[in-house]
Amino acid sequence: MSFIKTLLLGVIVISISCKGVKEENPKTAIQKAENQLSFLLQDAEKANLIPRTIDKTGNLHWTHLNFDWTEGFFPGSCWYLFEETKDEKWKKAAEKFQDMFQEHKYKTTNHDLGFIFNCSFGNGFRLTKNKAFKEVMITAADSLLTRFNPVVGCIKSWDTDKGWQSQRGWKFPVIIDNMMNLELLFKVSEFTNDPKYKEAAVTHANTTIKNHFREDNSSVHVVDYDSENGAVRGKYTAQGAADDSSWARGQAWGLYGFTITYRYTRDKVFLEQAEKIAHYIINFKETPKDGIPYWDYQASKIPNEPRDVSAAAITVSALLELNNFSDQDFGPAIDKIMNSLASDQYTAQLGENKHFILKHSVGSIPHGNEIDVPLNYADYYYLEALVRYKKK
Ligand code: GLY
Repeated sequence: MSFIKTLLLGVIVISISCKGVKEENPKTAIQKAENQLSFLLQDAEKANLIPRTIDKTGNLHWTHLNFDWTEGFFPGSCWYLFEETKDEKWKKAAEKFQDMFQEHKYKTTNHDLGFIFNCSFGNGFRLTKNKAFKEVMITAADSLLTRFNPVVGCIKSWDTDKGWQSQRGWKFPVIIDNMMNLELLFKVSEFTNDPKYKEAAVTHANTTIKNHFREDNSSVHVVDYDSENGAVRGKYTAQGAADDSSWARGQAWGLYGFTITYRYTRDKVFLEQAEKIAHYIINFKETPKDGIPYWDYQASKIPNEPRDVSAAAITVSALLELNNFSDQDFGPAIDKIMNSLASDQYTAQLGENKHFILKHSVGSIPHGNEIDVPLNYADYYYLEALVRYKKK
């Protein structure tokens, strides 16, 4: 065999064994992210508030003090930076900002406790083994579990007695995002040796497979159930383009949620579901070559529609975990999305973008909220992905 042929074969073997995940960019990207979030931390310290996004006038917009589904992400980002840098500054910041909402562990009026407490106190416990953090997570899981209805087989996402949710005629709405609240339940079953949290999570995941997914493996956003008999009353969207469209972040939440459910159950049904969602996302024809999706896969004016970088960040973090479980190779998709996110197109220059890391995310177009802005959860999942990518 000629030298060139041997060399080529060697390169092919190496790329197959590395599953395409490159080694060179995460360190610099993490350093860049740390520099940027150091500025954001100064802003947050000055205001004594948790940063969420940029408002319509271009100013920093903070999380609501009484409850905000995004309040766990900034302290969560601080925990990831502590993990990477071992700088006590980030640990102190994470502790300070998560303490601001600790009392929300008692709230039983919303399903977002999993997001909130797993990203903040959950990362804190993972890194410090502080028993007080574990206790907070157990209380939050107990509050979350009050929303589980065994007849439906799901945790109720939203209450329907106030706000815009009260105007939709829903009784027991469950959104695909709710898959993200299960990680807290799985962890708390391990902490307490009580299977009830895990059992509820597994039931929720199975009901979601049954009712949220279409033939093409895309997911609807909202399934409304009859809480008396568990029947499906209807399928809708809240943040997507249409009831029968595929809201981009919803697909990402599903991918991430089923990957986690497989992590804790090792039940192949959940692995296969995650793989099917991954294929829907990765192979969607209208998604541009850089792998950053439009905010909804069926948005009516593609290619003149906003992208959603948050969906890409959540997706790539999930793919990095899924790639460890699956026989399939998601490496090329991971590399593509990671390289795009790290490029100047999506990563802000130091000191710009009101000190958030990533640009061009979408909160909710139907509600006219947070369109083409940075979002604290896009930054959180990107940092998580960078840490995972570096460990490869
Ligand atoms: N409910 C979480 C989201 O807007 O994606």
